[in-house]
Amino acid sequence: MSMNLIEVDNITFRYEKDEAAVLKDFSMTVTEGSCVIIEGDNGSGKTTLFRILTGLSFAEKGEYCFDGTMITREYLKDNANSKRFHKRIGFLFQSPDVMLFNPRVYDEIAFGPRQMGISDQEVEARVADCLQMFSLEELADKAPYHLSGGQKKRVALAAVLSLNPDVLILDEPYAGLDKTTQEWLTQFLKELKAAGKTIIVATHSSELLSEIVDDTIQLGK
Ligand SMILES: Nc1ncnc2c1ncn2[C@@H]1O[C@H](COP(=O)(O)OP(=O)(O)OP(=O)(O)O)[C@@H](O)[C@H]1O
Ligand SMILES: [Mg+2]
Repeated sequence: MSMNLIEVDNITFRYEKDEAAVLKDFSMTVTEGSCVIIEGDNGSGKTTLFRILTGLSFAEKGEYCFDGTMITREYLKDNANSKRFHKRIGFLFQSPDVMLFNPRVYDEIAFGPRQMGISDQEVEARVADCLQMFSLEELADKAPYHLSGGQKKRVALAAVLSLNPDVLILDEPYAGLDKTTQEWLTQFLKELKAAGKTIIVATHSSELLSEIVDDTIQLGK
């Protein structure tokens, strides 16, 4: 029996006080090591849900437990708690532009590990691994800003994985990728799952993950 790594219990979230709730009495659980797909039309709240799961937004009602710990604004105000939490959950934003702000691809991938206080030597080793894994060696010194959309997505994913998180939350990872890169990503996610990672993906291309998906959650219905 796998344990519930993520437990969302009856959460309600709205961006503005008097507006309709984006998520209303919403619940979900994710067991450790599973692959869950989040589906829903544009505006159904997929990205909002991911912001809550990653501690960027907080529900006005209901509870979110990660590995037995209640995640609240208060809890994450503590620096040690916040570091511990963010080290375990990696988030690929829907738009890689939001994520990429370092002068070089190399620094982009090194950023997370450096923030976590990992030694320079270990950071170098991890970045080298990630550059190789994502075939980014030749782009290491380039400015992320000047890369193509698909290249940016690969850099953003490499930056997420350089922290070696237990849980990967991927917001439309296939969007804007060519077919070859999409297939490569599917293969990569299969390997991550086989390695025991928990994977949560918002996508309109769920057929690409049919071999590894354990559960599909529909939003906005
Ligand atoms: N920062 C924000 N401020 C106010 N409203 C927002 C904000 N972000 C999203 N919304 C609203 O919340 C609702 C859900 O948006 P969200 O981005 O979570 O949907 P989504 O399912 O990710 O959509 P898409 O498939 O287009 O990415 C939408 O009605 C959107 O207009
Ligand atoms: Mg979205």
